[in-house]
Amino acid sequence: MARLDPANIPRHVAIIPDGNGRWAESRGLPREEGHRAGTEAVREIVRAAHELGVERLTIYTFSTENWVRPDEEVGAIMRLLETYLRTESDELHENGIRVEAAGRIHELDTNIQRELDSLIRRTEGNDEMRLAFALSYSGRSEIVDAARGIARAVEAGRLDPEAIDEKTVQGFLYLPDWPDPDLLIRAGDESRISNFMLWQLAYTEFYISSTLWPDFTKQHFVDAVLEYQKRERRLGKTSAQVQTPT
Ligand code: IPE
Ligand code: IPE
Ligand code: MG
Repeated sequence: MARLDPANIPRHVAIIPDGNGRWAESRGLPREEGHRAGTEAVREIVRAAHELGVERLTIYTFSTENWVRPDEEVGAIMRLLETYLRTESDELHENGIRVEAAGRIHELDTNIQRELDSLIRRTEGNDEMRLAFALSYSGRSEIVDAARGIARAVEAGRLDPEAIDEKTVQGFLYLPDWPDPDLLIRAGDESRISNFMLWQLAYTEFYISSTLWPDFTKQHFVDAVLEYQKRERRLGKTSAQVQTPT
């Protein structure tokens, strides 16, 4: 069996945990049960990422587009999220994990905002692994919000339009100090980006898994990292340039 190279663990892994609904429907269960099982997979994969030495993990938890789902389903997802934030707090904190959030957080229920805020503040000093939940998030709305922030800074005279570069834009994203993901894992067999991290995924390696998210285990995560370790990240260079850097 292939072995992981500990010197080449992706520093930042982003995940699109898709397939909860199909998992439930294929069992004749309500979609809510798929989201419940999906929460268990989140627990397992957070632990696995930490054990493997991943430094940062971003999980696409709820998209801006997901608000259009039936009220019943949105309500179930939000209740599960609130429970997760409350019940995982001790384990996350004890494992030294720092929790963060990206997205239009003000659009979430105030109860959830409160739980999230308390978890973020409780774990602020932790440095074992950073874990970001993308909530009411989309890549386009993040860029729109960054554009608004930049426009306000220009208007206030704090920023010269000619001085705007990629670093400036990065500085106005939801998590400005986070590096781009090295690896994106999408569960649930769809080969699309679904409005996730459009700015940050510029040179990220993609791994599509046919496994539905509730069935996604530590072994699937290890398989994704093994595949990542076979990739050559050329970043626009030729293969020869990558192999013999000057
Ligand atoms: C992903 O699973 C979780 C969320 C979008 C919140 P889905 O609910 O999209 O599952 P499928 O894609 O319908 O199977
Ligand atoms: C992406 O899954 C969003 C999350 C996993 C939170 P979707 O199920 O919403 O994506 P589409 O609709 O299949 O593109
Ligand atoms: Mg889906």
